[in-house]
Amino acid sequence: MVAVSSADGSSNEGNPQGRQRDGWSSRTAFILAAIGSAVGLGNLVRFPAEAAANGGGAFVLFYIFCILLIGLPVLLSETLIGRYGQSSATISVRRMAEASKASRYWEGLAGLGVLGSFMILAFYCVIGGWVLYYIGLFLGDIFTSGVTGGALTGMSAEAIAAIFPALLENGLMLTGLDIAFVAITLYFVARGVAGGIEIVAVWLMPAFFTLLLGITIYGAFSGAFAESLVYLFTFDFSKLTGSVMLAAVGQAFFSLSLGMAGMITYGSYVSRDVNLAGTSAIIAASDTAVALIAGLCIFPIVLAAGLSTEGGLGLMFNTLPHAFQSMPGGSVIGLLFFIMVGFAALTSSVALMEVPTAWAREKFKTPRAPTAIAIAGLAMALGAASAYSFSALSDFHPLDFIPLFAGETVFETLDSVTAKLFMPIGAILTSIFVGWIAERHLIDMQTGLTGGMHQFWRFLVRWLCPMVLSLILIVGIFPSVVGG
Ligand code: TRP
Repeated sequence: MVAVSSADGSSNEGNPQGRQRDGWSSRTAFILAAIGSAVGLGNLVRFPAEAAANGGGAFVLFYIFCILLIGLPVLLSETLIGRYGQSSATISVRRMAEASKASRYWEGLAGLGVLGSFMILAFYCVIGGWVLYYIGLFLGDIFTSGVTGGALTGMSAEAIAAIFPALLENGLMLTGLDIAFVAITLYFVARGVAGGIEIVAVWLMPAFFTLLLGITIYGAFSGAFAESLVYLFTFDFSKLTGSVMLAAVGQAFFSLSLGMAGMITYGSYVSRDVNLAGTSAIIAASDTAVALIAGLCIFPIVLAAGLSTEGGLGLMFNTLPHAFQSMPGGSVIGLLFFIMVGFAALTSSVALMEVPTAWAREKFKTPRAPTAIAIAGLAMALGAASAYSFSALSDFHPLDFIPLFAGETVFETLDSVTAKLFMPIGAILTSIFVGWIAERHLIDMQTGLTGGMHQFWRFLVRWLCPMVLSLILIVGIFPSVVGG
């Protein structure tokens, strides 16, 4: 049995089930923090872009299906492991494995997640830096454009279109912005679970929801709301191809922060009396609602301005500024919009930094603040390489020798290695571990599910999740299987 010191210097040795370490101050705090982790750039940037690229309604419906049948069962599995282990992700898995007389090497599934979370953190904060830039842009714009007219007055369409490419070219600026975003994240992670991570969620998530609803309602009156509803909710099943389905599962997992040890880590701070199935359902429902509302927030603004909804990251950073130009009050809406995105990104980056920080603290027995500073430093270094991926390092392709990642910059490699390999592998191993390896008595009492629902959850974790996720992994590696 491993001895682990927690922050207050006490030991969890001997009986992990018996001891509750310090953690969230309440069930609500946990729910808000977990929603904060889930709701992020994935909902606001990735979801609308993926929906647009994959034909709208059919993608959206299948996405909801994936959240319910695959995402939710794995989310419950991850929080279960964490709460059982009361420790960092790897040690939590190891404890459950040891109690089930299984190999301790199962902890590798969490090790992969710790590394993956760090890699996501590194490029996620670069995007967080872009958000900071746009907050500054629209803040400054209020002084030039005023609060009633549109945003960016006097700028030609070409000049607006040049803002984002010019930013990407400026590696030094991107690195500075990245460092700023990592530093803000660090501030909260270094202060601990109840004293920092939770504060950020409890204050920012309600503010985020208010802004999201406010902007959406404003857009509904001034934008192409009906058109957007049709776009997002018209189910044309002929559009549901293999690659659309895979994009939907991948998006569901990224959005719920699964497969990356994140929910194991957050689950480890949850107290014994919390019903994990109920809270998992609230988390998944909120995350999905935010993705759908984000679609209803962004598409009306874009469609009303007669712009295209295609274009990945450019949808938010390039298309929206054009749309704000013609919108009444565009400078204020633009500012509020990017503040909202910043809040969502920060609650996720805090979660991403907490995973490697919790791991390193227990691994090296170091106090929280210095450990978090070290992780942040490493994230800044890797972030700088990602920031220069659009300029000086655009020809540097770190994994060129692997066909799957050939031709990708540091920024792109971090994203695709985690999304195509780590996420599915982590989630497959988690569902196999919980469904087949862990002893039932360690699991069954904890889910909060009874009777038929419990049986159904077990069926999903044992059969559907590993099968579907293996399919994503194979198709991710060999795209030709589904024809692209
Ligand atoms: N879910 C987050 C978002 O939608 C991003 C994310 C992916 C994440 N994996 C994670 C956050 C792991 C925390 C932990 O933006």
